[in-house]
Amino acid sequence: MDFNLVRKDSGTKARAGEVVTDHGVIQTPIFMPVGTVASVKGVHQRELKEDIDPDVILGNTYHLYLRPGIQILEEAGGLHKFMGWDRNILTDSGGYQVYSLSDNRKIKEEGVTFKSHIDGSKHFFTPEHVVDVQRTIGADIIMAFDECTPYPCDYDYAKRSMHLTHRWLDRCISHFEKTPPKYGYAQTLFPIVQGSTFKDLRKQSAEYIASVGAEGNAIGGLSVGEPAEEMYGMTEVVCDILPEDKPRYLMGVGTPINILENIALGVDMFDCVMPTRNARNGMLFTAHGTINIKNKKWEADFSPIDEMGITYVDTEYSKAYLRHLFAANEYLGKQIATIHNLGFYLWLVRTARERILAGDFSEWKTKMVKQMDKRL
Ligand code: GUN
Repeated sequence: MDFNLVRKDSGTKARAGEVVTDHGVIQTPIFMPVGTVASVKGVHQRELKEDIDPDVILGNTYHLYLRPGIQILEEAGGLHKFMGWDRNILTDSGGYQVYSLSDNRKIKEEGVTFKSHIDGSKHFFTPEHVVDVQRTIGADIIMAFDECTPYPCDYDYAKRSMHLTHRWLDRCISHFEKTPPKYGYAQTLFPIVQGSTFKDLRKQSAEYIASVGAEGNAIGGLSVGEPAEEMYGMTEVVCDILPEDKPRYLMGVGTPINILENIALGVDMFDCVMPTRNARNGMLFTAHGTINIKNKKWEADFSPIDEMGITYVDTEYSKAYLRHLFAANEYLGKQIATIHNLGFYLWLVRTARERILAGDFSEWKTKMVKQMDKRL
């Protein structure tokens, strides 16, 4: 994997770059739609490619391991072939889902025992196993096994957990180096910075992560309930330490405003369930604020879903029609809202990139943050 830093913004720490893998170029900043179980919920792969057009999507080790299971994925020739997606895929390691979804998890030095949220069956994840599973899934970018601490978290726990994440990283790296990729294209491993909301721990973790010399680095343990200002404070400390010539991925973030603020601090890659999950609940993100399309106020509003017309659904259908679909609980409502929201998120990061290249990102960001902070 290569990373070309194309331009650095003069007013902020934002960057425009290109991550190059065997599945193509990822122009950064990028938002990666979440396709947890080999499906970006509510969007057909062709719509995803033609109408939303992300260079990379995300999959989840925890979910794919439980269903369909790695044997099926191996027989299929990997996740790209299984789901008919020939662009990049990044997989999260399970170091978040194990904590947020499964029951009865037990963390030990060796790994984590947990019970499946699907059928209650018992499983054991170790750093080595998680690398093997991601080798078999065949993601282009795979994530190290970590512990994502909750918020709030006491200092001693955060410190112990951070050191465990670092030891698990060492095991991930040595196992990754011993195991070749399975499908003829390269894979790369990103380590994850932890340290909760403590600046000294974040600093220590970022220094350790930087020292392993990976091709890209991630920041975890944020957007877990802490105030936005605290998140930005942590991102700032970490981005100042992580190498400039490697992509930086902020995991699980966030709102459109969070994304712009973190781009300004030097983050290149993002993922979040928000545009897809909130779409299914009738919440639309726009450049002028958020809309709850279920509100009665849209009942007879025949204006387009979004005048900007980023995706075809925005001008093809009216707010009144989309509201009706939600009121009637039609699948199509969720599908249209998902295409709109993902289209908007991808527009946001693409425009951020254009503004960085044009040299006026800072002004644009200030205007957008103000504009988007509204409920319509
Ligand atoms: N997704 C959101 N936050 C995290 C994190 O801290 N670790 C992992 N592995 N995935 C995440």
